[in-house]
Amino acid sequence: MTIAQWSDDYKTGEKEIDKEHWGLFALINDLNEKRLHGADEKSIASTLYALVAYVDVHFEHEERLMEETGYPELDSHKKAHEALDRRVMEFQDAFLGSPETFDFEALMDFLSNWLQQHILKLDMDFAAYHKKRQGEGGSA
Ligand SMILES: [Fe+2]
Repeated sequence: MTIAQWSDDYKTGEKEIDKEHWGLFALINDLNEKRLHGADEKSIASTLYALVAYVDVHFEHEERLMEETGYPELDSHKKAHEALDRRVMEFQDAFLGSPETFDFEALMDFLSNWLQQHILKLDMDFAAYHKKRQGEGGSA
């Protein structure tokens, strides 16, 4: 079952960012598949690790692009990233600490909210800014 359905609505128009967002959807769906099919702890933990690592790389990439383009909302966007990062690591710790009692529903709710709230709002705001700047003949 696909819980995170990729659609054009999520396309920011930033090619690399979109590719990474797509990868994020894929990992979330992978995680969901694994838990639905009763995958073993090790296998779920490895997808969780992959997710955390992917998120870090992706956030760094986004923030670098924001820096390069002089995005005025960089600080608040970074804070939003930090909060997401912290939360996903808390989930990872909780899973590793006690996989039997781990609340998968809460993790999935958190992840799908993230895709909807963060990408559709904050990342879109940046993409609109960047597009406008490029239209104005800005350097980035
Ligand atoms: Fe972002």
